[in-house]
Amino acid sequence: MTTELITGIRELTTQADDEGRLLDAALVIDGGRIAWIGPAAKAPAADRRTDVGGRAALPGWVDTHTHMVFAGDRAAEFEARMAGQRYEAGGINTTVRATRAATEDQLVVTATRLRREAEAQGTTFLETKTGYGLDLESETRSARAAAAVADTVTFLGAHLVPSGIDRRDYLDLVTGPMLTAVAPYVQYIDAFCEVGAFDVEETREVLTAGRRAGLGLRVHGNQLGYSGGVMLAVELDAASVDHCNHLEDADVEALASSSTVATLLPACDLSTREPFPPARRLLDAGASIALATNCNPGTSYTTSMPFCVATAVLQMGLTIEEAVWAATRGAARAVGREHGPYAVGSLRVGGLADLQVLDAPSVTHLAYRPGVPLTAAVWRRGVRRGLGVRLGVGHDVGLGVGDA
Ligand code: NIG
Repeated sequence: MTTELITGIRELTTQADDEGRLLDAALVIDGGRIAWIGPAAKAPAADRRTDVGGRAALPGWVDTHTHMVFAGDRAAEFEARMAGQRYEAGGINTTVRATRAATEDQLVVTATRLRREAEAQGTTFLETKTGYGLDLESETRSARAAAAVADTVTFLGAHLVPSGIDRRDYLDLVTGPMLTAVAPYVQYIDAFCEVGAFDVEETREVLTAGRRAGLGLRVHGNQLGYSGGVMLAVELDAASVDHCNHLEDADVEALASSSTVATLLPACDLSTREPFPPARRLLDAGASIALATNCNPGTSYTTSMPFCVATAVLQMGLTIEEAVWAATRGAARAVGREHGPYAVGSLRVGGLADLQVLDAPSVTHLAYRPGVPLTAAVWRRGVRRGLGVRLGVGHDVGLGVGDA
């Protein structure tokens, strides 16, 4: 097995418990895992040496909320929204029609393109969902496509009651045959708890069925109004409740005293013109938060975690350290991957070598230089990913790669 020394790291953000940030650091990758982390001056020899020339390194982003299995686009709906129309859950139907008409290969191709786009911006772990099929065959196809592309998959049959089926019959389908059909491909179940989608009792029914089938729980909650989804997520000890735009004090307190992660989706909030969630209040109360892109064709057609991090700092009152934490280790918590042999979102000896190097000397530049493509290099499971990006120009010096 070839070992690789990555050195010349001006600032190494590890997100590990014992050594958060190191200056003038290096690390060694061996067989997809990190074998050594420490001061560059004390780095051991390795078969291969990559000098990142004074740049910053950190864990790859962990994007825990996307809807990448879809067909078609909704640019017209977006234009109407920018002209003043409000976002409503019903827009999902447009994507359902296009997704049902697509082949499984087409769904995989689109989701793969989006995953590559995300990776080129530093994402090394990705969740995605079903939810644009909404019949037995199309949800099953979507689940298989999702499993072919993502690291973890969520079943979102309860995204909307599609037209042409009675509400009760649809709930029976989602909690019965559909759940059975998708179960081999998914790890989580989710429901859109919102006016126009599913109410609290319907959401409870769906999640409870998922739990019986051995799945983890997530909720789309309190996105467009006070839906009660947050309280339900906490009551059921869901792994995460996502969106959280409309919170009362009781929701904040409940989240703070739970292990449910509040996953915030700032790109979606900009695109739907919803108020940002009270991120500062959540953190100050002691709640865990994550940041995610919510990449989907309706409310958030972006794969950019750096954009979400910058927005969280510039618009939501997070410090850069808090935002980077929420997009790495906090996000890992939201998908049950904070600890253990397959932990993501942190860099530690023995852990997975999922990391990124920025074309900048520190993570501060993620918000200081918003909108600038700063991803210089990405390693996933120890393998350098081809980003087709600009590695020629060093920050302090050229980024030199070669045999030691
Ligand atoms: O997370 N809120 C529900 N689901 C997606 C949007 C779906 C759509 O409009 O296509 C979201 O924003």
